[in-house]
Amino acid sequence: MKKTTHTITKPKGKLGVLIVGLNGAVSTTFLAGVMAVRKGLAMPIGSLTQMGTIRLGKRTEHRSPLIKNFIPLAKLDDLVFGGWDIRNEDCYASACEAGVLERTHLDSIKKELQAVHPMKAVFDQFYVKRLSGKHVKKGKTKFELMEMLREDIRTFKTANKLDRCVLIWCGSTEVFISPNNVHKNVKKLEDAMKKNHPDIAPSMLYAYAALKEGVPFANGAPNLTVDTPALMELAKQTGLPIAGKDFKTGQTLVKTVIAPMLKARLIGLSGWFSSNILGNRDGEVLDDPESFKTKEESKLSVLEGILQPELYPELYKNYYHKVRINYYPPRGDNKESWDNIDIFGWMGYPMQVKINFLCRDSILAAPIVLDLVLFMDLAQRAGMKGIQEWLSFYFKSPMFAPGLYPEHDLFIQLMKLKNTLRHMKGEELITHLGLEYYD
Ligand SMILES: NC(=O)c1ccc[n+]([C@@H]2O[C@H](COP(=O)([O-])OP(=O)(O)OC[C@H]3O[C@@H](n4cnc5c(N)ncnc54)[C@H](O)[C@@H]3O)[C@@H](O)[C@H]2O)c1
Repeated sequence: MKKTTHTITKPKGKLGVLIVGLNGAVSTTFLAGVMAVRKGLAMPIGSLTQMGTIRLGKRTEHRSPLIKNFIPLAKLDDLVFGGWDIRNEDCYASACEAGVLERTHLDSIKKELQAVHPMKAVFDQFYVKRLSGKHVKKGKTKFELMEMLREDIRTFKTANKLDRCVLIWCGSTEVFISPNNVHKNVKKLEDAMKKNHPDIAPSMLYAYAALKEGVPFANGAPNLTVDTPALMELAKQTGLPIAGKDFKTGQTLVKTVIAPMLKARLIGLSGWFSSNILGNRDGEVLDDPESFKTKEESKLSVLEGILQPELYPELYKNYYHKVRINYYPPRGDNKESWDNIDIFGWMGYPMQVKINFLCRDSILAAPIVLDLVLFMDLAQRAGMKGIQEWLSFYFKSPMFAPGLYPEHDLFIQLMKLKNTLRHMKGEELITHLGLEYYD
């Protein structure tokens, strides 16, 4: 196997982490976790960059360093947090309100959390029907608002003496927008921003501003945002990494493990009913049919990609797939999902699988935010531009190059991620062939 190395610039100085939706449940759980880990009060459980290892060379070599010791990543102590929200309150107040973490945890990092305040957001209720807020920028055109975001990024960098920044969307899910002519190239996108075109959502303005300011952009929600030809073109022009969409955390994480199992054993599928109850603000936003449509598209896409009905028509051509999300306030962030899976085996005999996952939405999302921040920064330092397909591992609807199809299988995604790290460092790629052990 041919070895290739990337020149990776060392992560010197501070790394700015700019978050859209800074006061949300995911963001504040991420911030609080990093702050607690820095103080030795908690463990970064769920984070591949902090706790994961990577096997190098042959199995007989017994080389499996921690990923953070193998590849030069920014240190947690070097992260500086900032961002935007439509709510004008510090992150301690928001974290308390989110109700994800216990007060004893939050009080041990109260000062640090209180020091993080959001900048005024670019927001329009047209795109998130269930929210309203006053901590919002005013401007005549979307282009003007985008320029204000650029100014914010520059000010944040200078004020905190930052070497580099990463921007990540942890904001609410916007209404569904189909890619169309205004997203076709950078010129059309800029014209549409100047004309206040309705198909330019606030998230696109943040993404455009980031890319213009030399900042990689990742999207944790299912909004279209950076997944357009125009912003892909801009990322190529500016030599910056982009990634998305929609953090893969609970039900879909499980789905992308179970579906490959069925396909591996050629077990047929006649139906998959996925239901969720959740009671946090995200649940409230998703209660609006237009935001739900964005999420639904994202959650539905994974089965088709994994099962490939065109290759296995007898097994997967006619399955019924339904996803429901129900807003149920008593549960807060502690989401519950049920999956009923109707399958068939040898000679067509039916069977069922039932999964009941009692998870915590933001507890599962926080380590993903951390990994994405560190890997996006790594990608930039390694000169990797455009879509970062190797980060599909973290997304429900991974972005992919035109002409390809997305890879949804969690373990293929993990192999792709680890092989990319090996490739960046000039280590042998691992194919799991293993014949050499039996020569
Ligand atoms: N496991 C998970 O929690 C998970 C998984 C996948 C995707 N997501 C997505 O991540 C996002 C955040 O989830 P959450 O639970 O933290 O939601 P949340 O409602 O607690 O937080 C979202 C925050 O975004 C802010 N916001 C909305 N529009 C904004 C704008 N234009 N500019 C600045 N701020 C804006 C809101 O005021 C809010 O504080 C949602 O889109 C959600 O669908 C979450």
